[in-house]
Amino acid sequence: MNQIAVAIDGPSGAGKSTIARKAAKTLGFIYVDTGALYRTIGLAVFRQNFDALNAQEVISVLPSININLKYTDNTQRVYLNDEDVSDLIRTPEISLFASRVSVIPEVREFLLDMQRNIAQKNNVIMDGRDIGTVILPNAKVKIFLTASDEKRAERRYIELCQKGVNTSFEEVLNDMRERDAKDASRSIAPLKKADDAVLVDTSELNLEQSINTVINIIRNAQNS
Ligand code: DC
Repeated sequence: MNQIAVAIDGPSGAGKSTIARKAAKTLGFIYVDTGALYRTIGLAVFRQNFDALNAQEVISVLPSININLKYTDNTQRVYLNDEDVSDLIRTPEISLFASRVSVIPEVREFLLDMQRNIAQKNNVIMDGRDIGTVILPNAKVKIFLTASDEKRAERRYIELCQKGVNTSFEEVLNDMRERDAKDASRSIAPLKKADDAVLVDTSELNLEQSINTVINIIRNAQNS
C-alpha cells in the first residue's frame, strides 16, 4: 500500500514542529522534523571546532556521522553516533551552524535518502524547508506554514525561555531574520512555497486553530 505523505514547509518559528507533531498524533502519522538532521550535522561540525562556512571542513565531517531517528509515542529523538542529541541541538549557536551547513549541496545530498526512506515506509507529516519542493515532490498534501517575523520570534523566544536557554527577544528576532534570509536566498533547495502547496498564515491563529486548520486540509485531501 502506498504511504501518505504530508509536506509542511515554512520559515522557522511559524509553528511547524508543534503543529505537525500534534496533527500527526491525531491522525496516527509519524512526525518527521527534518531540521533536526541539519542541526545534528551542525553540532558535529561545532564539536570538531570546524567552521560551518567552510564547505571542505563540513564535508570532511560527514563520513564520521551516523544519524538515526527513533520514534516513541510519535516523539522523535535524534541520535548522533548513538548519542541522543535531541536537546543539545536546540541552542541558538547550533541553529546558526545548522543554517550554514544546510547550504552545502553535499550535506543536503547526505540527508536526502534518509528522508525519502522514512516517507516510503510510513505515513508521515514531514516538516522542513524543501520537503514539498525537493524531498517529496509527489506528497499527497503540501502546506506552506508561515507567520509574521515578530510573531515567529516571540513564539521561539518563549520556547527557548521555557527550556532555560539564556537569550533575548532581539537576539532571537535577529537570528531568525538572518536565518530566513539565508534559507530563502541560497541557490540550492531554497525555502520556497511549492506551487501546489496550500498557504497557511498562523499570525492571527492560536495553536488550536492552527492545528485544526492543518488537520482539516489533510482530511479533505485524504477524502478527495
Ligand atoms: O527547522 P529548524 O529551525 O530546526 O531548521 C534548522 C536549519 O536547518 C534551518 O536554518 C534551515 C535548515 N533546514 C533546511 O535547510 N532544510 C530542511 N528541510 C530543514 C531545515
